Amino acid sequence: MDVISVIRTKRDRGELSPEQIDWVIDAYTRGEVADEQMSALAMAILLNGMNRTEIARWTAAMIASGERMEFSALSRPTADKHSTGGVGDKITLPLAPLVAACGAAVPQLSGRGLGHTGGTLDKLESIPGWRALLSNEEMLRVLDTTGAVICAAGDGLAPADKKLYALRDVTGTVEAIPLIASSIMSKKIAEGTGSLVLDVKVGSGAFMKTIEDARELASTMVGLGTDHGVKTVALLTDMATPLGLTAGNALEVRESVEVLAGGGPADVVELTLALAREMLDAAGLRDADPAKALADGSAMDVWRRMIAAQGGDPDAALPVARERQVVTAPASGVLTRLDAYGVGVAAWRLGAGRARKEDPVQAGAGVELHAKPGDTVTAGQPLLTLHTDTPEKFAYATEALAGTYDIGAPGTAYEATPVVRE
Ligand code: URA
Repeated sequence: MDVISVIRTKRDRGELSPEQIDWVIDAYTRGEVADEQMSALAMAILLNGMNRTEIARWTAAMIASGERMEFSALSRPTADKHSTGGVGDKITLPLAPLVAACGAAVPQLSGRGLGHTGGTLDKLESIPGWRALLSNEEMLRVLDTTGAVICAAGDGLAPADKKLYALRDVTGTVEAIPLIASSIMSKKIAEGTGSLVLDVKVGSGAFMKTIEDARELASTMVGLGTDHGVKTVALLTDMATPLGLTAGNALEVRESVEVLAGGGPADVVELTLALAREMLDAAGLRDADPAKALADGSAMDVWRRMIAAQGGDPDAALPVARERQVVTAPASGVLTRLDAYGVGVAAWRLGAGRARKEDPVQAGAGVELHAKPGDTVTAGQPLLTLHTDTPEKFAYATEALAGTYDIGAPGTAYEATPVVRE
């Protein structure tokens, strides 16, 4: 087999054979196919697509590039959730302990933020002492003793995806449905969960900007999971406006703890409960009552044990940014739009995100929202508070916010988009 013929097949809109796919993924993982050759193939896939048979084989080859985890020794059914990424999406933080408190085991392998979307591990690392890197044995121990674990995927899990995702990130080839679906599902299938709920985000702050693309991504991923024996369901959820009232690492941990304490913003609570119900249903725990587990403190108990089991201090004060700047409403009326992408870019520029994988993030940086679409605002009232340790970033972040919100005349009718769209 030679790589040029594989690239030519896809360049010329042909179908890759199972042998071509198995060979190219294996050879790339072993370093026999060069990055520039894989970039050419990824671009050909982005432009010409792959059919369901090719996507299934590509995913299987990426799973086979590494180890598979196994949770059959656990006494509880396993359930996991994956979000395709958004702004202010802190749902994993309250959700994992909540679902564990209802009887499932939640092995949540999570990632870091890149670009304008935040990453669960960056958020949790703002808790003093908390460790994202666990050995497989440690991960199993935390899962077994607390019911939930949130940690980084080990190097042995789908190594082909690790290399390929890093390459796609710098070659403009992230936004291809076949590549996104196979990337996410290879990791989730290799992780060994029995059931999986996909939170496919739709809107300006998401990879998928239209409901049609989100539907296609969701159905491709559900098909891949089902074919590999993982009970997989997907919700399409809104990402036109940020989730909750915060975007930024420690800011989002604080908001998640509010949800676990029985409070928190309505949209975060609604989505957490909707996903919890799907996860519990997929795990066969249909009688569990997640709303009760939030209200009676049992989800909070699991959170505290889970954080402590990974070295964190659940009672420690969270980091706070050194500087703040308030953005005020320029007029009185109804906030009719607050764009997720603009807020995400502002939080990223303030220091909550990174431009390159190796960059550090600021734990306290981010954006706090004082109003959500549909709220009435008064001229001069705080609309957003920007948080950073480096005040020279305020101007750069403010630039990203230009044109990101609209205020309609007082009394303007506002029709809210549902949090769960489908
Ligand atoms: N998340 C992933 O893990 N992979 C993608 O390709 C996109 C989002």
